[in-house]
Amino acid sequence: MHIEPFFDPHTSTLTYLVHDGREGIVIDPVRDYDPRNGHTSWASSERVAAFADRLGLRIPYAIDTHVHADHMTGLPFFAERYGSRTVTGARVGAVQRTFRDLYDLGADFPVDGSQFDLRVDEGKRLRFGSLEALALDTPGHTPAHMSWRIGDAIFLGDTLFTPDYGTARCDFPGGSATELYDSIQRLYALPDETRLFMCHDYRPNGRPLVWQSTVGEQKRHNVQLDARTTREQFVAFRARRDAELAAPELILPSLQVNVRAGRLPEPARNGIVYLKIPLDVLGKGGAG
Ligand SMILES: [Fe+2]
Repeated sequence: MHIEPFFDPHTSTLTYLVHDGREGIVIDPVRDYDPRNGHTSWASSERVAAFADRLGLRIPYAIDTHVHADHMTGLPFFAERYGSRTVTGARVGAVQRTFRDLYDLGADFPVDGSQFDLRVDEGKRLRFGSLEALALDTPGHTPAHMSWRIGDAIFLGDTLFTPDYGTARCDFPGGSATELYDSIQRLYALPDETRLFMCHDYRPNGRPLVWQSTVGEQKRHNVQLDARTTREQFVAFRARRDAELAAPELILPSLQVNVRAGRLPEPARNGIVYLKIPLDVLGKGGAG
């Protein structure tokens, strides 16, 4: 098994290409979006593709661990270029309902996850080449969040971050610090040497990029939730911290695209595609 990380410095997102030399899957790909001029591009996903093409990989699946609030997903790029089936958690409809209402997407906007090719529950296995990815139900950051186990590696999505940074926020709609605590306990029950791959690295204090850790390292050193942290301590901590956090810069552009599995809205009559920006709602019981 080979694991290739790709880092997007604009959103601090890590995308992974996991492969056996013949077939691979892509986890949490990015569509680039510049909020200053509204330009989108596939530059980040093209870097993954260039690597895959050098090896001649097929890519049967492209996965979002959850509906991202900080970057637009690159799922459509892989669906189009490689015929990858797009994959997300089965409870994605709960997230789609929230944002259908926030963005006024209309009663006919599907909230059954059907924009994604596959909606997976706990225990779902995806075979690719000689490898197999196993879906792990890890809600907390979002209600439909899934992590993926491939061999001795877990692709965490937004659950744990690097030990010096901590854990994912739980203040988005349907988020729950109690659920995140329980999801992380599930990960902490795995063997200490289990490798963990983060979805983000915010490089605290300007340190070099880190994308990998182990269960043992996290249990000893995670600054927000180590082996001794109780559920009560964690839930109280997360509530305090989340109350101080600003919204991610790209939350409003991203969510309306990501609930469509990354497809942009239909063009207006003049042929231009527009995003919607709801005013004075975020942080007031709307989008967290
Ligand atoms: Fe996230």
